Amino acid sequence: MILFNNVSFSYENSEELAVSSIHAHIDRGEFVGIIGPSGAGKSTLVNLINGVIPHHHKGDFYGEVLVCGRDTVESSCGEISHHVGSVFQDPESQMVSTVVEDEIAFGLENFNIPADEIETRMAEALKMAGIEHLRHESTAALSGGQKQRVTIAAAIALRPKILVLDEPTSELDPQGSRQVFKTLKRLNQEYDMTILIVEQKVMLLSEFCSRLMVMEKGRIIMDGPVRQVLEHHDKLLELGINCPRVVTLTKLLKNASLYSGEFPVDVDEAESVIRKIMEGAYDQY
Ligand SMILES: Nc1ncnc2c1ncn2[C@@H]1O[C@H](COP(=O)(O)OP(=O)(O)O)[C@@H](O)[C@H]1O
Ligand SMILES: [Mg+2]
Repeated sequence: MILFNNVSFSYENSEELAVSSIHAHIDRGEFVGIIGPSGAGKSTLVNLINGVIPHHHKGDFYGEVLVCGRDTVESSCGEISHHVGSVFQDPESQMVSTVVEDEIAFGLENFNIPADEIETRMAEALKMAGIEHLRHESTAALSGGQKQRVTIAAAIALRPKILVLDEPTSELDPQGSRQVFKTLKRLNQEYDMTILIVEQKVMLLSEFCSRLMVMEKGRIIMDGPVRQVLEHHDKLLELGINCPRVVTLTKLLKNASLYSGEFPVDVDEAESVIRKIMEGAYDQY
């Protein structure tokens, strides 16, 4: 679905590369979490997928990005948007309408979706984003978190093959954030949607994603299955990334020679590990 072939990019008026020597490929149906400190190049990476770079942000572009087999430099943003849905870091930058339902209808009308289909998709997207009650609200009156949900609903309604989201839960509470991840998981499973999400909440990434990419100074420094990446717990801490408690706890258990298996990625799995330790199931360690 997505191929980065030795991609580097620097914004105009900037000497430094915002991303450098990126090699990655993302297959259909993957659910990828992207983490890294501020300024690591996460937003730049996702904006290379949706064509915002190089079509809106100018600069020096090296290498190639292929999305659904097409070079993003040679496709217009409009063409790319038929495959890639985007939820940007700042919801206001992407909102165009004054009423919630118009915001969601806007993209659908642009894609020439028939009116009855628009209604079906709108109802589904509002429900999935948990904002059915906001349908007739003025967008100006919404909280930051509600705006985030509206931009998510607008993106979902278009049913893109690929959905990229840049810190879409930054203004949501823990429950709201989890609900967004559950919705993404559903889209990933039911529509085989390929999802890339930049997110600070590592616990949610570790629970819902299949793959984690860690960025530092414009490079992808780790890329692999969630469990494998979380094993580099010390490096992540060094980058200021807070590992989920289940990882910290597992590390302690490993250091104490009480456990030597795979890293659990959620509370249920950690509970099962601890239960087995208590029951002496790992006594061979
Ligand atoms: N529009 C821009 N113009 C110039 N430099 C930018 C722009 N956007 C980002 N940068 C720079 O590119 C680097 C990567 O930024 P970004 O991709 O936004 O990182 P992240 O999303 O991980 O915080 C940073 O050094 C940042 O200052
Ligand atoms: Mg960013």
